[in-house]
Amino acid sequence: MSSAPREKPAASGDRRPICVPRLAEMKAVGEPIVMVTAYDHPSAVVAEEAGVDVVLVGDSAANNVLGYDTTVPVGMDEMLMLAAAVRRGLRTPLLIGDLPFGSYESSNERAVQNAQRFVKEGGCDAVKLERGGASVDRARAIIRAGIPVMGHVGLTPQTATALGGYRAQGRTAARAAEIAEEAIALEAVGCFALVFEAVPAAVTQALMTKVEVPVIGIGAGLDTDGQVLVFHDLLGIHAGALPRFVKRYAEIHDAMVAGVRVYADEVRRGQFPGPEHVYSIDPPELAEFRAYLEQESLASADWDWSATEI
Ligand code: KIV
Repeated sequence: MSSAPREKPAASGDRRPICVPRLAEMKAVGEPIVMVTAYDHPSAVVAEEAGVDVVLVGDSAANNVLGYDTTVPVGMDEMLMLAAAVRRGLRTPLLIGDLPFGSYESSNERAVQNAQRFVKEGGCDAVKLERGGASVDRARAIIRAGIPVMGHVGLTPQTATALGGYRAQGRTAARAAEIAEEAIALEAVGCFALVFEAVPAAVTQALMTKVEVPVIGIGAGLDTDGQVLVFHDLLGIHAGALPRFVKRYAEIHDAMVAGVRVYADEVRRGQFPGPEHVYSIDPPELAEFRAYLEQESLASADWDWSATEI
């Protein structure tokens, strides 16, 4: 019943809420960090119940739930509405809001203001931003304002055009060195974790010896401290082509289409709703109601609408 009140999500097992220092502890003891994206309340509840450690309200919401072609058009107000819905579905995982393209690059003030909105309005524990360069300064400013920041290097979809499209990064020594410099700079200004996206596994392995904060990989091999996948990719909520680094763990799109087809078919055949889906009324009450409908005065009622207050 979509309009029925929802219960608060149950915390996953007896786990305590994950905080930023906990991720460093997990790295220290070699406990893999599990991160997924979520863009709404039901997906947050799934992440909670499945025992995920970190949830990212990714700007990939743009193409996964808002119908944009890329992550570039999504704005702060859209991201905040999604983040607040995710917050209401989570108790345990660390919640990170992904600063969308255009929300942080132009100045430290703008970056801090939008990071604060993620915390105050979206209920996030931390924010993520993409690239090195000016983003390093922005990360430093946000951290100084008291908000933990996750960096993101390698394939950075917000600036994919400048990178030559959606393709693996760091496949030349020069580009791998740039990624290393960006990662080290983001760590140096205090980022609590980094995402490596679409980087050769051997480059990741080499770079892991230089990075002390937790690294979460997506298409970066097994040597990172954790993995992240987009919720809709891993569950097969969309049909269509996928990046090489995605593994499908379910085929929800096909299951949803099949379910809606059966529903449509049953409605058309008069098979739904069945007796178990309808409400009853006591026979005397029904008899009284029928008698009421048959009254002469009701049948011939000539309503004077001018006398009705609207
Ligand atoms: O927006 C997103 O989904 C991301 C992940 C790929 C890390 O940034």
